[in-house]
Amino acid sequence: MTFQRLILAFLATLYLVNAEFDLTNTKWNTDNDTFTGTLKPSTSSSNTYSIDLNELQFSLTVMSESTSRIKITSPSRYEIPEYIVGVGGSDNLSIDDANFTFDYTESPFTFTITDLDGSTIFSSSEQLYFGDQYLELTTSLEENNKLFGLGEKSRSTGSVVPKGSKTTMWARDMAAAEFDTNLYASHPFYISLSSSGNANGAFLRNSNGMDVNYSSSGDSLTFATLGGVIDLFTFTGPTPKEVVKQYQEIIGTPTLQPYWALGFHQCRYGYSKLQDAKDVVQGYKDASIPLDIAWLDIDYMNLWLDFTYDEVNFPAEEVKDFVDQLHDNNQKFVPIVDPGILAVDPSWDWAQDYDAYHSGISMDVFVKDFTNEKPYMGQVWPGPVHFPDWFHPNATEFWTTQLKNWHDVAEFDGVWVDMNEVSNFCTGQVCENSDPENCPTHQVDTQTQCCLSCTDVDPENALDNPSFLIGNDEGINDDKSPSPINFKTIPASAKHYGDLDEYNVHNLHGTMEAKVTSDAMESIRGTRSFVLSRSSFPGHGNHASHWTGDNAATWEDLKMSIVTVNDFALFGISMVGADICGFIGDSNEELCARWIQVGAFHPFSRNHNTFGAAPQEFYRWDSVAESARRALGMRYQILPFMYTLMWKANINGETVSNYLWSVFPEDEATHGVDKQFMLGDSVLISPVLQDQARDVDAYFPAGKWYNLFTLESLESAGEVVNLATELEEANAHLRGGKILPMAASGSLTTVDVQQNDFTLVVALPSDEGDSSGELFVDDGESIVVANFLHMVYSATSSSLTSKAVESSFDASNAVSTVKVLGGAEAKVQSATIQVNGDSKSNVDFVQEGEVLIFTLVDVGLGDEFVLEWS
Ligand SMILES: *[C@@H]1O[C@H](CO)[C@@H](O)[C@H](O)[C@H]1NC(C)=O
Ligand SMILES: *[C@@H]1O[C@H](CO)[C@@H](O)[C@H](O)[C@H]1NC(C)=O
Ligand SMILES: *[C@@H]1O[C@H](CO)[C@@H](O)[C@H](O)[C@H]1NC(C)=O
Ligand SMILES: *[C@@H]1O[C@H](CO)[C@@H](O)[C@H](O)[C@H]1NC(C)=O
Ligand SMILES: *[C@@H]1O[C@H](CO)[C@@H](O)[C@H](O)[C@H]1NC(C)=O
Repeated sequence: MTFQRLILAFLATLYLVNAEFDLTNTKWNTDNDTFTGTLKPSTSSSNTYSIDLNELQFSLTVMSESTSRIKITSPSRYEIPEYIVGVGGSDNLSIDDANFTFDYTESPFTFTITDLDGSTIFSSSEQLYFGDQYLELTTSLEENNKLFGLGEKSRSTGSVVPKGSKTTMWARDMAAAEFDTNLYASHPFYISLSSSGNANGAFLRNSNGMDVNYSSSGDSLTFATLGGVIDLFTFTGPTPKEVVKQYQEIIGTPTLQPYWALGFHQCRYGYSKLQDAKDVVQGYKDASIPLDIAWLDIDYMNLWLDFTYDEVNFPAEEVKDFVDQLHDNNQKFVPIVDPGILAVDPSWDWAQDYDAYHSGISMDVFVKDFTNEKPYMGQVWPGPVHFPDWFHPNATEFWTTQLKNWHDVAEFDGVWVDMNEVSNFCTGQVCENSDPENCPTHQVDTQTQCCLSCTDVDPENALDNPSFLIGNDEGINDDKSPSPINFKTIPASAKHYGDLDEYNVHNLHGTMEAKVTSDAMESIRGTRSFVLSRSSFPGHGNHASHWTGDNAATWEDLKMSIVTVNDFALFGISMVGADICGFIGDSNEELCARWIQVGAFHPFSRNHNTFGAAPQEFYRWDSVAESARRALGMRYQILPFMYTLMWKANINGETVSNYLWSVFPEDEATHGVDKQFMLGDSVLISPVLQDQARDVDAYFPAGKWYNLFTLESLESAGEVVNLATELEEANAHLRGGKILPMAASGSLTTVDVQQNDFTLVVALPSDEGDSSGELFVDDGESIVVANFLHMVYSATSSSLTSKAVESSFDASNAVSTVKVLGGAEAKVQSATIQVNGDSKSNVDFVQEGEVLIFTLVDVGLGDEFVLEWS
């Protein structure tokens, strides 16, 4: 332990003093249905950190029937602007109309939110801290409930937040392959689920560094944050889906992705030349494996400078030809961009004409150091860099111009923004490049070692040294202790435009960059943007997508990918996936064959691996190629359904990839399941996640299920079913009672999918009940969805009805086939169809075992029809 550590450890004990407040001046304001009051520290308490805060304002606002907002504030405290993280709209409902009640005690002050059944949603303890650099709020929880959410973290225990655990929120460039430590994003949101399936949740709208402690008995949860205000939202549910929807009513719903982004993406770090990427695209084509998007990682850059191409190995002219070729083949191109802009030294001939630097300086857009005078210098891939300040009024123009000029060279379709926690290879309050001849080294093996001279000019700076040490980096250091918050990022004392401290806005960086990049791409291309970002914060989903970062090519990481993707769905980011086959380390045939059987069904589906690792494109092994053809073949068939889910997420705050408990909360057996997942509430994915295994034990909630590959049915009483699963086989089951719009098989790009004929697959339930489904279709790229087709389907055991809810988009696809699963117990004699109210005509059909197959003629996707059989 260093001397500094010792001091910090000593200071950290001081906050443990008791703090209680009294509430006075309470009143209900009838004009806006807000309850307000004034909080004063109780005379008995000695709150060490409340130095200058003698009086706090308390308010409770009824945001909606289900959602309360509780604020504890003091003037001039940092609050997240609403343009970054929305606060929905308040209905100004009277508390009497809400589905929760609000109670409080005045001395000592506590408050409680309770649902109408009397279950506690949030119940604050008497201890409340509100200091300059330390705020603490504790709630009691129902100890038999399971807790989910609180990220971003790869939890070795799986989906359930373990009792006695601490979740630290401080965005950090740490590989997702490191379990049980803080990663790229902060999401202070949880769902509490009872054994009977009742759910509630809470969101602390605070961007400061934070620890969230879950007590060892599960009876309480403590938010301990380094600043800002208490701005708490509670959600009554009562179902998990409603909690997530209520959360998204506050922070906003996921942006609708362009259709092509749902195609399969292939990337890697470590192409030595453009020809490598061309060979990969050709390899997919030769193996007849679907591929929509080719990516380039930092390899393409000239000396790792943003917006440049390496003149020798990735000449701009050739990249342009490559991209044009991709476009001719209905494929897309996405390159990477990092936030660090090379800080050009006057002695470097090789960088004197680097426009991003010079225009950034003249527009004054870079984050400043603690003096607020000079741009802060850090180091990332290019070497010494400055970081764009997304709060600066010139940032959007700067970034849009840089992207636009670069887009003029080769027309990329989307952008990947990486390293935006922000990652910094150096640690220090102020850094200088005192050795420009040797810094940067321009060598891949030494480039990540700090070559700047960094000093803490102002060692007493309170922002850089808060007395309370959150668990940043904890468990990863050799001595397992936390690192200071400045560790390998922009120091907390650095300044953003408007005198904002990095201390308060650190966790917002990734989402801010994603927003500016998404806006820039929309204005450059005039179409819906696709932006993939590593760091995120609540509200991120409104602008961009996310991948789970640097995982490893291990079975544990494959399992973890299911948890992380489903957690991010809870966080309001629907477009999420993990690097298929694993990023770090060499993948292998067995792992890669199994990984695509998971990744093909994640909303964002990309194979990616690291520099120096063995190639892992699916066509490298016969079995993996076959596995990919089957799994991705099925993905491309169900894309119309997946795209419909993405739209429902966008308009309604629904989720695309789901934990089973989110769909079947009343079935307690689903609550711990995290090795299977569902798409919407219709398709269940049950992958093999073990080396050499040729079967898997999968839980099936009660009802009828149909294997989407073979159409065979199984009936479950709510039980574990053993599924024989050869290496090339994925398991995807359609739930009885659902109707799935599917594209014809054989598509190799999403353009094929959008042009292909459709099949409607009706999965009848075990009882005589009805089935239902729906479909959304548009042009797949308009920023404003003005014209679209929205069809709803319903079926009984002897009829299928198609109705148009909205038909302002003219889809030219035919519905050529209807398959009814589980409907052919008695021999069917005849079938008729009535299209758009015209007279009935006969329909050809065949009966194959349990499956009835109808062949429709001249029926379009937008047609209303009734198909009947008897
Ligand atoms: C709620 O009340 C506030 C303050 O009185 C007002 O500004 C706002 O427009 C109201 N919102 C609605 C939805 O009525
Ligand atoms: C509600 O109205 C009161 C009294 O006008 C005001 O003090 C308070 O700030 C308002 N609260 C909100 C959330 O609008
Ligand atoms: C609130 O409760 C009423 C009555 O129980 C119910 O109809 C309504 O759906 C509930 N609202 C929400 C948002 O849960
Ligand atoms: C959180 O739990 C850790 C033990 O895991 C403890 O050291 C720390 O003091 C707790 N923090 C708070 C704010 O309760
Ligand atoms: C924005 O950039 C212009 C130069 O293009 C500069 O004159 C101006 O001062 C910058 N604005 C701010 C707020 O720094």
